[in-house]
Amino acid sequence: MAKPTILVVDDEQLIRWSLNDRLTQEGYRVVEAQTAAQALEKHREGVDLVLLDYRLPDGDGLTVLKKMKEADADTLVILLTAFSSVDMAVEAMKGGAYHYANKPFNLDEIALLVEKALETTRLRREVRTLRATQAQPYSLDRIVGDSPAIAQLKALLKKIAASPASTVLLTGESGTGKDLAAKVLHYASDRAARPFMNITCSALPEALLESELFGHERGAFTDARQQKRGLFEMADGGTLFLDEIGEMVPGLQAKLLRFLEEKTFKRVGGAADIRVDVRVVAATNRNLEDEVKHGRFREDLYYRLNVLPIALPPLRARADDIPRLVHYFVDNYNDEFRKRVRRVAPETMKRLQTYGWPGNIRELRNAIERAMLLSEGDELTDADFPLATGAPMRLGDAVQLPAHGIDLEQLERSLVVQALERSGWNQTRAATLLGVNRDQIRYRIEKFKLERVPSN
Ligand SMILES: Nc1ncnc2c1ncn2[C@@H]1O[C@H](COP(=O)(O)OP(=O)(O)OP(=O)(O)O)[C@@H](O)[C@H]1O
Ligand SMILES: [Mg+2]
Repeated sequence: MAKPTILVVDDEQLIRWSLNDRLTQEGYRVVEAQTAAQALEKHREGVDLVLLDYRLPDGDGLTVLKKMKEADADTLVILLTAFSSVDMAVEAMKGGAYHYANKPFNLDEIALLVEKALETTRLRREVRTLRATQAQPYSLDRIVGDSPAIAQLKALLKKIAASPASTVLLTGESGTGKDLAAKVLHYASDRAARPFMNITCSALPEALLESELFGHERGAFTDARQQKRGLFEMADGGTLFLDEIGEMVPGLQAKLLRFLEEKTFKRVGGAADIRVDVRVVAATNRNLEDEVKHGRFREDLYYRLNVLPIALPPLRARADDIPRLVHYFVDNYNDEFRKRVRRVAPETMKRLQTYGWPGNIRELRNAIERAMLLSEGDELTDADFPLATGAPMRLGDAVQLPAHGIDLEQLERSLVVQALERSGWNQTRAATLLGVNRDQIRYRIEKFKLERVPSN
């Protein structure tokens, strides 16, 4: 950390010298001023603490104190007075001085006072940063859950956010939190003060998407009456989130690859290479490897993006997080809808935990939203969740024996595996999904020699 800077204001050279000498020894950076005007000028350059003489050739210390406080309310000022009077001390404190000292002063006393004052400044700043991070809507805490999968995800996001990584790939089913993760990555990085821009690659036709991304020169095409800066330029120093990257057309994939490799691009219709510093976070719910195999996604771009892949786990693989998420959404909607829901019935929570949530967290959020809108009491029950709480499907409704028959053992094995995966290998929940008891599940795990494979 940088040395704290202390401004010493006094018209007497000897006093400035002795203070400067002592404070420098204590490890501070000292700047000096002889007049009120000089003091205000130096103060504007940014100092941590001011030692201010009461009597200055061009004004009095109290006025200077007031002006400094106006410019920066956090400035700490210790007023130095040549005569001790209670009135003076009272006035100084009223004017917002941190403390005062009588001349002639004892240098040890001053050193101690300075140390205390700087500690106050440090604490104040710390509190402010803490508040700022807490008020920050996309801090890491926004990702709810403490299952191993989520703990791992958060640790990874934190590490990558702080790293110089220029490309990140987020994968995961719809509703698993890719948008959220992209924002967390941005706001947890030192790019946070710079722009976060985002665009959905599937939303625009190729030519439009290209000019959105790279901008265009005047006259580049019929409608280009003016030069336009693209998202890459606008995001300079920050993050560009490319959502649904799997849907990007091949022509643009090549241009994106060039940018990722060279950090430069050309505006549409432009000749000059423009260099920017942008972290690209791409997201997809497609399996890019498959897309590559089918020739729909460039292999070289895939490898470039896949340097830092982050896989967001499906909700069914971390059902332990469901109660926490439910309470989180209930709290949110209590505020938003002015409701007073305090509980979720235990058997309802259990059902929410065993349901498969194909739409993941978004589906869960929507289900809670709906339940909260309709609920009148202080408890959510099965009746509030038509979607998730239906009785197990009757087999006949779901499965038709194919004309050529099936392998029953194989079908059984497949269903057991699916139930285990959906319940994150929680045997009790898997059993509920299959309408059997836990021993029957255990027996089948043995019989089919099933083993859990880590999902990430
Ligand atoms: N771990 C989490 N904690 C709390 N809320 C979450 C979490 N993950 C996702 N959400 C919320 O769930 C909703 C869906 O998440 P998000 O939009 O990020 O999903 P997505 O992966 O981008 O989906 P899609 O592929 O459909 O675009 C959002 O409201 C998001 O804030
Ligand atoms: Mg999304």
